[in-house]
Amino acid sequence: MTEETSSTSQIKVLRVNASSSQSVSFNYLFKVALIGDSGVGKTSILLRFSEGTFLENTASTIGVDFKIISFDLGDNTYAKMQIWDTCGSERFKSLTTAFIKSCPSFILVFDLSRKSTLTNLEHWIDIIKENTNPQLLCFIGNKSDLESEITKEEIDKFSEKYGITYIEASAKNGSNIEEMFITTVSNIYNEIKTKEYNGS
Ligand code: GTP
Repeated sequence: MTEETSSTSQIKVLRVNASSSQSVSFNYLFKVALIGDSGVGKTSILLRFSEGTFLENTASTIGVDFKIISFDLGDNTYAKMQIWDTCGSERFKSLTTAFIKSCPSFILVFDLSRKSTLTNLEHWIDIIKENTNPQLLCFIGNKSDLESEITKEEIDKFSEKYGITYIEASAKNGSNIEEMFITTVSNIYNEIKTKEYNGS
């Protein structure tokens, strides 16, 4: 028996209408949170992915909010993913921290045009690591449409330190937004299949 891993090319976002989604039977429910400083673009990433829109001026998230997106994993297997948008501001830090402790998987987001937001991800990771067995799915350099304040070396160093896949994206022009969620789903699904293969 060989362990099968799903390739990202096999996974598709299922944008179905209400009546056809009723005919799909879902095998998995994944829960993922977008984490990072205030203003890095977490709400905008979720809005771009779920509704295909972008707002130049967004209100800061109050507390936490979520959207559900469906995925076709291939081989007649389907998953729903609850994507939680957290608040990065100091004002709601205790609420975000409490939420993080109840969530299994994370997408880390920083703003390519603000170096401090990459440095601060270390602090968010410390909070996440207080959780039992958290899964760091990928880290996102958002706002790739703007001039970057961060060098490739600094990003590579961070990626190697934590062993996380890096994706550069823009909620504004939509670049790599769908890809980041497909990578996320693929990473979760591969971990599940590895556990199933190992019998744990
Ligand atoms: P909090 O809810 O406070 O934690 O912030 P957030 O991380 O959800 O950031 P939000 O999505 O509210 O975006 C903050 C600002 O950045 C808004 O003015 C967005 O329009 C802008 N923004 C978000 N993504 C991009 C992007 O890819 N490019 C550019 N140029 N601006 C962006």
